[in-house]
Amino acid sequence: MSSVRHTPPGLRPTLPTWAVLSSERLGHVQRVAELAAAWSEAMGVPDNERHRWLRAVWLHDALRDASADELERWASSAPGPPGLKHGPAAAARAKADGEVDRGVLDAVRYHSVGLAEWDMVGRVLYTADFLEPGRPLEREQRAELARRFPADSGAVLREVARRRLTHVIASGWPLPEPTVRFWNSLVTPSPSR
Ligand SMILES: [Fe+2]
Ligand SMILES: [Fe+2]
Repeated sequence: MSSVRHTPPGLRPTLPTWAVLSSERLGHVQRVAELAAAWSEAMGVPDNERHRWLRAVWLHDALRDASADELERWASSAPGPPGLKHGPAAAARAKADGEVDRGVLDAVRYHSVGLAEWDMVGRVLYTADFLEPGRPLEREQRAELARRFPADSGAVLREVARRRLTHVIASGWPLPEPTVRFWNSLVTPSPSR
């Protein structure tokens, strides 16, 4: 399993010391961090906001390869199959470790299912998690969406959600309740958006 490797300064902070993930998974997380950092630069967000994005990125899959026992210990009340527990478990572990930023914790906790109330941290993580270049499917379309994100983040987020939900439905899996509310929030005009 992983030891913490050298992280380029632009991608810091880095993986928490308690992370349990394979080296392939670590490669995925690093690519998500690179994409989020590139967007933060293109969008001119301040350093503290970029830090929030990167904290969430490094945390989101930190327990992806943890044992069922460890996931249960940190996410005993999270609904759904074990595959949906690593986000809630990582958020609970990060909170125990002193993370207090609600936007960062919600981004990590709901990164597999979506959340209507997300701030920009959750939106960036959900989108970058899907658009990072290492995933094998639809590489060119996803690269194009990644390029568009800084200028048109709302439309790109909606398109990513559409693709992810289409896959869930095509697979015959149930849509978790937060996912339904998340999708409705993306396609329902609201005065605040
Ligand atoms: Fe994940
Ligand atoms: Fe991920």
